[in-house]
Amino acid sequence: MSMPKVSLDGSSNFEIPQHVAIIMDGNGRWAAARGLPRGEGHRRGVEALRRTVRAAGELGIDILTIFAFSSENWSRPQTEIRDLLGLLRRFIRNDLAELHQNNIRVRVIGEREGLAADVASLLNEAEEMTRDNDGLTLVVAFNYGARQEIARAARRLAEEVGAGRLASSDITAERLSEFLDMPDLPDPDLIIRTSGEQRLSNFLLWQSAYSELVFVPTFWPDFDRAALEHAISEYRRRERRFGGLAAAAT
Ligand code: FPP
Repeated sequence: MSMPKVSLDGSSNFEIPQHVAIIMDGNGRWAAARGLPRGEGHRRGVEALRRTVRAAGELGIDILTIFAFSSENWSRPQTEIRDLLGLLRRFIRNDLAELHQNNIRVRVIGEREGLAADVASLLNEAEEMTRDNDGLTLVVAFNYGARQEIARAARRLAEEVGAGRLASSDITAERLSEFLDMPDLPDPDLIIRTSGEQRLSNFLLWQSAYSELVFVPTFWPDFDRAALEHAISEYRRRERRFGGLAAAAT
């Protein structure tokens, strides 16, 4: 999206993270606190997602990655899995045209094999329709687990070695990352987890090596632009050294 970068505090040299990833947690607790079914929490979570995508574009974030469904979420009750898959289907059917109109490119990471055929084809359709858009990139992590992603990359590297196309001594961190699910995108600068939990839960374990982690108490259905701006302000207070020394010490 060719949105101007808008300063949160009016300053001009204001740093916006290029890639923000979000663990959208707390839908169930949001619903329980109101005596509502968990599905209502997820439904309101989709509304929060719409708000966040809009805000990310307006703030000039280039890439927004969302954890929509984890490899481990299959262990939830069948009814809840049905709710979540239904919301994904509806999100793509209802929102894809608008995402496309807003020049948003949708990409999907995670294991595609074994998904229901209609879900797999909706995910493909979202990627195909928006392939040439050059605004915000929305990466949907669906049926995603970081350990599984790394294991898939290792398997493909092993196949390359087995076929004689690669020597085992060629395997470096850089080479392995070429076999991950979004090899061409920069690692997230900022990972936000809502609901007060402070862990990564198998999300982007490789790519988060130098990400700033910001944990916010807000349950996901209450997340909005102000909460995103607040997390970005926290990110801006951090000093990123990437294993080097502080700027003042160099
Ligand atoms: C965590 O809340 C959230 C999820 C497991 C899924 C996130 C899904 C959405 C925001 C809606 C679906 C959107 C798409 C595009 C599929 P939780 O259920 O773990 O909450 P809890 O920890 O309070 O129980």
